[in-house]
Parts: sequence; C-alpha cells; structure tokens
Amino acid sequence: MTKLSVNINKVATLRNARGGNMPDVLKVAQDCERFGADGITVHPRPDERHIRRSDVYALRPLLRTEFNIEGYPSREFIDLVLKVKPHQVTLVPDSPTQLTSNAGWDTKAHFTFLGEVLDVFNQAGIRTSVFVSTDAEMIEYAAKAGADRVELYTEPYASAYAQNKEEAVAPFVEAAKVARRLGLGLNAGHDLNLENLNYFYQNIPWLDEVSIGHALICDALYLGLERTIQEYKNCLH
Ligand code: PXP
Repeated sequence: MTKLSVNINKVATLRNARGGNMPDVLKVAQDCERFGADGITVHPRPDERHIRRSDVYALRPLLRTEFNIEGYPSREFIDLVLKVKPHQVTLVPDSPTQLTSNAGWDTKAHFTFLGEVLDVFNQAGIRTSVFVSTDAEMIEYAAKAGADRVELYTEPYASAYAQNKEEAVAPFVEAAKVARRLGLGLNAGHDLNLENLNYFYQNIPWLDEVSIGHALICDALYLGLERTIQEYKNCLH
C-alpha cells in the first residue's frame, strides 16, 4: 500500500495571513486523518512563515497516523525533531529563504554531513528519508550515508507529464529500481496532483509514500477536504 501523507504547510500559510487561528492547523491535520490520510507532513522553516515550531510540538500528541517532519538539518531543526520524535524525518537541502524545495541533495558532495545527521536520527529510532533526484549515484550515496528511504523529487515528472508521460516517468522507474536493489524504502513528492499521481503509482506500485501539499489544498477549495483526500487515495489503487 502506498501511503498518502498530506503536507499541511499551505494551511498554516493561510492562517498566518491574518494572524489569528483560522483555519485551525491542528484541527485540519486531525480532519485529514479522519478523511483517510495515512500521514501528516510539516516543513518548519527558520522564519516560521508556514508551520511554526509550536505547531510541530502541538501536533505530535494529537496525530494518530504517521508524522513526517521535513526540512534542512540545521542545529535547530535537528533539536526540534529529536524532541518531537516523529515517525519519519525527511532531509531537504533547502536554504532558509527558498520559496519551496527545488532540488534533491548532492549526496556525494554532502556525504559526511548527511552521514553524521542520519546517524543521530537513526540512534534516536526515527526513520530517515533523504530527498534526491533520479540520479542513481545520488541514491547510492544516500544508502551509503545510512538513509532508510529516499524521497524522489517529482517536479521534473510533473512538468513533463502533459507532453509525454511515458518519457516523464521512465527515469523515476529506473531510480525506484535502484532504491529497491539497495534495500531502501521509497517516497516521492513535489507537484504530484490528481492528474499525474495515478500514472506515477501504476508505474512504481512499490512506492511506500507520497507527500502532497500544494495541489491537494488547492483541490480542496473546489472539492472540499474530505472528497479531495478520497480522490488522492483513489489514485493510489
Ligand atoms: N516533499 C518535499 C521534500 C517538499 O519540500 C514538498 C514541498 O514542501 C513536498 C514534498 C510537497 O510538494 P507539493 O506541495 O508540491 O505537493
């Protein structure tokens, strides 16, 4: 079964626009679970422009499904994750001011750093995932550094999908095979949506998890959150 983890950063962005507590991020997370999400993802950034550190602490005892915290492993991020102890941490090579993640790690260039960080999380019993492109070498170095999983950066798939979906998915299938051969779990995320998700899943049915935020929250404006989550889940059958 491929799990759907809903990234709720966009909900926090909406809340922060007015300074109050509408929408209530904690309630939305719990409703996502009630409507069928298999997990909740947050991406706390140093400037707290979306999810705040206080949200991350408050979410932990409320969630009944898998909690995934993603972000750049700064000292502060590592401390937060170790205190909160989510089920999974996803390491992303974001700079603090970046609009959104736009590349995977160069796991070869950052091998020593990633190895040290992964070791800390592995020792704390937190499953680790490293955000990477489809480059086989990047996946191999993620495995060598001690990652439990890799998360494939799917923006190139999403942007090429409309033109030629067979070509768009081909490098992801190859990368998924490399991950499987190395014994790594496999996640995917970025720009996945109701149009492109099912085809991705059909080609890589051994995916462990997809993490989806932007398109899902946009769809919820039209369809409502409950139906939206059900439709995303339907893409994973
Ligand atoms: N995975 C990672 C590592 C991300 O940084 C993001 C965006 O925060 C996502 C998945 C979800 O991407 P999207 O919001 O485009 O669904």
